[in-house]
Amino acid sequence: VGVEHTIELRSDNAAGVAPPILDAIVAAGAGSALAYGGDEWTARLGKRVADVFEHPDVAVFPVVSGTAANALGLSALCPPWGSVLCHESAHIVNSEGGATSLLAAGAVMRALSGEASKLTPESVHDALASTRWGDPHHSQPSVLSLTCPTDHGTIYTPDEIGALVAAIRPRGLRVHMDGARLANAIVAVGCSPAELTWRAGVDVLSLGATKNGALSTDAIVSFDPAVAAELVYRTKRAGHVASKMRFQSAQLDAYLTDGLWLRLAATANEAMAIIVAGLRELDVVLLEEPQANMAFVRVPPAAVARLEGAGLLFYAMGGGVVRFVTSFQTTTADAVEAVRRMRAALA
Ligand SMILES: Cc1ncc(COP(=O)(O)O)c(C=O)c1O
Repeated sequence: VGVEHTIELRSDNAAGVAPPILDAIVAAGAGSALAYGGDEWTARLGKRVADVFEHPDVAVFPVVSGTAANALGLSALCPPWGSVLCHESAHIVNSEGGATSLLAAGAVMRALSGEASKLTPESVHDALASTRWGDPHHSQPSVLSLTCPTDHGTIYTPDEIGALVAAIRPRGLRVHMDGARLANAIVAVGCSPAELTWRAGVDVLSLGATKNGALSTDAIVSFDPAVAAELVYRTKRAGHVASKMRFQSAQLDAYLTDGLWLRLAATANEAMAIIVAGLRELDVVLLEEPQANMAFVRVPPAAVARLEGAGLLFYAMGGGVVRFVTSFQTTTADAVEAVRRMRAALA
């Protein structure tokens, strides 16, 4: 009653498509092109990624989901008897149905704890120290997987990534980054794409795009040519080499052109900053320091229904915890209005 319109804060996956990306799809649909990535859009995407990430030997593989990017990228880094060290909040361990274990022929996800939903050099060091190296009864740590931003909206800085990479180097682990929301992290940190990834030690990146304005594509970005050579076969065997790949490549190329991805992410981050500033004035607890476009908030249990009744769309995680996520479509006016409704619902 009295609510004019709902405000979408459930997920950035609920958002629509950024107009320049839709335009790029339409443009790619005129005429024909060679299938399976042998087209000019995919060639242009390869150059674009090399340029944006300042890496001449980078390879990019469009895939339809973040889960596919994670599972395929990790399968190329981890032997079947290996384990992937990740934070206990990581999407790969909680929300991907064991996809990495499936595609990596049984590799194990080893979930570690750490403040702010982030791994620490200490937790990684302890995991390595407690491993029975060379014992076939024990999965052998082979990959460090970092999620940036994390599933709880916190961010690793390049220095923090560097410290984690230093902790695993003596044991020769490879480094994967789940960058489902990488653009939001880059904008928040204010660094270059290279600084947050390969210059800090990342070998393979899952580059998200769908949550931030694309229609139907994410990508695996490999900074290691040997891994890329394997991914050529792994993506095909998993059914991720689309015949009309040009439509994925066109989306990704538009996404990365002239900083569109960063502008879209900045809109989402700025809307979340407005919401977080409003929440700080209310009697609620922020579970983590929101650094990108996501906040987890503990509210009095009775307030959850009042927030819903106020026309706010969000996820109730149970136990009085709610999750708010902004997207490139969240306007400043939406964010200000959301705060007004939160204030009324929590009064
Ligand atoms: C951090 C993170 N990684 C990976 C994914 C997987 O993406 P998808 O749902 O496209 O498989 C998600 C999706 O929410 C995510 O939040």
